[in-house]
Amino acid sequence: MIHARNMVSISDLTKEHWDSLYRCCCDIITHPGEYVDSCRGKILATMFYEPSTRTSFSFQSAAQRLGGDTFGFSDPLGTSASKGETLADTIRIVAAYADAIVIRTPQEGAATAAAMYSDIPIINAGDGGHFHPTQTLADLATIMQKRGSIENICIGICGDLKYGRTVHSLVEALPMFPGVSFKLISPPELRMPQYVLDLMQANGQEYEESEQFAQSIPELDILYMTRIQRERFHSSAEYRRLKGVFILTKELMATARPDMLVLHPLPRYGEIATEVDSDPRAAYFEQARYGMFIRMALLHDFLNLPRLAPPPVASSDTAPIKCRNPACVTQSETYLPQITPAGDPGRCGYCDKELVD
Ligand code: NCD
Repeated sequence: MIHARNMVSISDLTKEHWDSLYRCCCDIITHPGEYVDSCRGKILATMFYEPSTRTSFSFQSAAQRLGGDTFGFSDPLGTSASKGETLADTIRIVAAYADAIVIRTPQEGAATAAAMYSDIPIINAGDGGHFHPTQTLADLATIMQKRGSIENICIGICGDLKYGRTVHSLVEALPMFPGVSFKLISPPELRMPQYVLDLMQANGQEYEESEQFAQSIPELDILYMTRIQRERFHSSAEYRRLKGVFILTKELMATARPDMLVLHPLPRYGEIATEVDSDPRAAYFEQARYGMFIRMALLHDFLNLPRLAPPPVASSDTAPIKCRNPACVTQSETYLPQITPAGDPGRCGYCDKELVD
């Protein structure tokens, strides 16, 4: 079975690939000693144009636990990006020195663009408010470890569903598992974006949008909390108005099912009271640790892939695209050719937003 060689979005992941990653993750947890040399001599590059604690450190730790090495940056000011180098050129150079690249950027669609210029695997560690597929791998691994199955459950996703990239990828992954329904709990201003709702409809996923946090909790098998994404707001007044809108407390936990899991990609900023941490249903710190093990499984696979020239980028006489989404990578990387998602010419192939009203 040949699996994808990039993890840019969850659409790169088949159920078979997930099953094999999860099997490998479990084996790594039980027999870590058997993997200490599995990436010996291999190098992971970490390109973080945005702050990160868990994703960056868990990837570095994962590569090192497999016997591999890492280099990278957490502040683009120290790189040639600050001299105006294009993403395409930076990727070509980093790909010459490494065996896989993990990239986090504020530009939506940047990992898709990076994969077009790379002969080594590209892993999207978060592209603006768009996607964060390896957080989803961590989320799925945690649910499997704690519940043993991801079928026939009701998941409440709560908070900033507009800018929270982790939940866009999570929702995209769950059609792989039968019988999952959603309660999408947010203020109206932070609703799930239309392109994600369209995807849910196309996948026949059952969902209900609501602002009813306390009322929803007793019905949930999993409560996935998210942080209001301050850095993506255009107005700080709007952020101040919406922050603190939903707070999970001990009192609310008392109304939940005895086996309801609480997940959060972290960092939190007040949306889960610290008094909840000692509740055995609070799984967010374990989730961060499972994130490292599932990333080890991904790197065990990706760092050992042979180099493969990317498909040729559209020729220079193809007119570049400038999508109207101000956060789209095509705003700053002005040479990128137009690409459209399969079967949907009305959408930007980088950030997934509608190209016209
Ligand atoms: C998330 C992210 O960066 O999108 N954090 C993470 O990777 N674990 C969530 C967040 O920042 O709120």
